[in-house]
Amino acid sequence: MIIAIDGPAASGKGTIARSLAAHFGLPHLDTGLLYRAVGAKALADHVDFEDEAALAQLAGALNLAALDPEALKSGAVGEAASRVAVLPQVRAKLLTLQQDFACQPSGAVLDGRDIGTVIAPEAEVKIFVTATPEARAERRYRELAGRGEPVTYEQVLADILRRDERDSGRASAPLIRAADAVVLDNTALGRDASIARALEIVAART
Ligand code: C5P
Repeated sequence: MIIAIDGPAASGKGTIARSLAAHFGLPHLDTGLLYRAVGAKALADHVDFEDEAALAQLAGALNLAALDPEALKSGAVGEAASRVAVLPQVRAKLLTLQQDFACQPSGAVLDGRDIGTVIAPEAEVKIFVTATPEARAERRYRELAGRGEPVTYEQVLADILRRDERDSGRASAPLIRAADAVVLDNTALGRDASIARALEIVAART
């Protein structure tokens, strides 16, 4: 079984993906980490964000096993990730890696922006997780502030709106709900209720 989970920044898709993976004993890939790793490397190496070929080269050299999620969580890295993610050559380099992960015999859970549309259109279960920008900004703000990042709620909201626009407006694999994805709007749902709803969606699809 492949479970594809897509949605905008801070929608809670990662939490849902991890819970479903644990529940069904499936491997999980947070595909945002791949773009974050490319963005972080580009920042560290001072690669020009207009230099698509150089950024694609970084993407091609990525080692999935060596990714450190903790080092890739900052707002600056998220912003860099969404900038490299608009580039078709970067996306092409990361495609096979994600498709290989999805096609393991065990099945898999993947979360991102284009899992149900591009990476695994054949997935048995597709969930599009969303919430209002304000609810997502509130969550992301608490997370970043909790880690000691000096941000304000207004900055986080502006960042989320900019990321939404860039992710939805890009020509290459934009953030869009797959026609056969079930929408899970968790604006008014807490963590547990959101996970329970996701489990219901899986149960109804399998
Ligand atoms: O989900 P996360 O915030 O970690 O993703 C960082 C950025 O990576 C997103 O803003 C998006 O631009 C990009 N991304 C993508 N396709 C995916 C996953 C992430 O374009 N499947």
